[in-house]
Amino acid sequence: MCGIVGVLGTHEVSPIIVEALKRLEYRGYDSAGIATINDGHLDRRRAVGKLINLSDLLVHDPLPGKSGIGHTRWATHGAPSVTNAHPHRAGSVAMVHNGIIENFRELRDDLIAKGVVFETETDSEIVPKLTQHLMDGGMGPIEAATKTLSYLEGAFALCFLFDGEDDLIFAARKGSPLAIGHGEGEMFVGSDAIALAPMTDKITYLEEGDSAVVTRAGVQIFDSSGRLANRPVKAIKMDNARVEKAGHKHFMAKEIAEQPVVMGDAITHYLKGAPPQIALPDAGLDLTAFDRVTMVACGTAHLACLTAKYWLERLSGLPVEVDVASEFRYREPPIPARTLAIFVSQSGETADTLAALRFCQGKADKIVAVVNVPESSIARESDLVLPIHAGIEIGVASTKAFTCQLSVLVMLALKAALERGHMPVEAVQTHLTTLRSLPGMMNAALTLSDDIQAIATKLAEARDVLFLGRGPMYPLALEGALKLKEISYIHAEGYASGELKHGPIALVDKQVPVIVMAPRDALFDKTVSNMQEVMARGGKVVLITDSDGARLAGDGTWKTLIMPMVPDLFAPILYAVPAQLLAYHTAVAKGTDVDQPRNLAKSVTVE
Ligand code: G6P
Repeated sequence: MCGIVGVLGTHEVSPIIVEALKRLEYRGYDSAGIATINDGHLDRRRAVGKLINLSDLLVHDPLPGKSGIGHTRWATHGAPSVTNAHPHRAGSVAMVHNGIIENFRELRDDLIAKGVVFETETDSEIVPKLTQHLMDGGMGPIEAATKTLSYLEGAFALCFLFDGEDDLIFAARKGSPLAIGHGEGEMFVGSDAIALAPMTDKITYLEEGDSAVVTRAGVQIFDSSGRLANRPVKAIKMDNARVEKAGHKHFMAKEIAEQPVVMGDAITHYLKGAPPQIALPDAGLDLTAFDRVTMVACGTAHLACLTAKYWLERLSGLPVEVDVASEFRYREPPIPARTLAIFVSQSGETADTLAALRFCQGKADKIVAVVNVPESSIARESDLVLPIHAGIEIGVASTKAFTCQLSVLVMLALKAALERGHMPVEAVQTHLTTLRSLPGMMNAALTLSDDIQAIATKLAEARDVLFLGRGPMYPLALEGALKLKEISYIHAEGYASGELKHGPIALVDKQVPVIVMAPRDALFDKTVSNMQEVMARGGKVVLITDSDGARLAGDGTWKTLIMPMVPDLFAPILYAVPAQLLAYHTAVAKGTDVDQPRNLAKSVTVE
């Protein structure tokens, strides 16, 4: 799972490719590389680790050339190493790949039997080797690359450069997205429009099975049966500003801190007038037209769906099923008539979520995407896009996208409640008016940062941490644990408070901090009982509650964090802040790589 880029330029391309790769680093940062046509000949530079290592290498060992391809890697087959880094080269062919070639072993064995020597442990290397082999047999570069595609099984976005061909990039996609950018006497190829944003806003998206012959004069696109295809050029509005940390030590800290503002933006985009009304984009949605909802996502976005299940079911009476995309896509669940399918994804590029969406096409009555990137694949393949307006999120651990996803989903639940006659209009308006004041409450929650930092210095010494919550706070307990795991590498588990005594309580001793997320809501007393059970066994409890909750919970906690009072409905959104800050400060105390934690990628574009 990787980011790829190609440029046929009028200037030196290495700096342009590095800039584009920076914008694709969310796809992986195990290694990076560039190949160019330098003085008529292929040459390449590759470095292990983050892109900065490649940039440093290029300072000492520049790579001239006005045509080039680049790659940032998240390792699937073969450890991160220079040898395994892309671009892969075979004779006069250089190639970058995003995806997995599933039949690479048999293709490789076949070529080995014919005397071809392989250097890497990757699945990707088969592609240039096969193309070069076909060229050795007399084919030209385009014919050989096109023929190569017919042998490949799996998912790929590919970009080829050929020795001696200064005005040619061959690109292809199957399963993984790829975009062509149109410039003035220049052409570009990229995994997404974000990568190409500083260079061009004119984008053509390749469709499934397409291949493209790119020259500076333009692009010829062929469909999967080899016929010339006419794909539209779209003018894309992208934010091409360089994203800065704005004085924060990490992007994650900045993104946590800017939540009141971006959440305010998200709310303003959907709430109009006074008293507030919910306005969905385009033709909107008739929420009386469905009998059930299925929600599918991965990671943090999946936990946003789990929270929304509580809201949608309680407020609107619609039954909701929530799945992780990697399970949903192969389980092939029945999709009855009158199903609304909702796919939630920050990036809109997560391979499993996209595949799950495609499974629902033609089966669900309506497909809705809740995404942060409106030009993403998931958005483009949906019937209705509900953007979350979080702005570019750089930190690998999702923060502001999560609270913006929740904000959009709670508005959707309230709209469903209203349209389906489950809640009087005045009650909905009261909730919406409160929602408008949520960014202010979030500002107040952020002032707990110093207290949380003090707790985090102790939490950093823990080996295991438990998070507990009940009702809609249960998915947030899962999110708190996920955040902590992702960036501090401390083992953490989230549990429904009531489930504690069915297993996890066996883990509790003096060494195991237990974070209890419990606003003073209808379930508070039950959660406090579970907390007492932990404390009776020596567990160190951090209680996150409001002033009423703190008063009623009594003594005995290790620490109590007092949050602003918030109506129950919005508590999961507000309480995300201390969960994020706990993970953040613990990771900083441990000295981990907060924004780009080991082994992770921001967007998982392979299954
Ligand atoms: C990765 C990221 C998570 C994210 C998940 C889903 O695992 O590290 O932060 O929640 O992918 O990504 P998506 O872009 O679909 O929301």
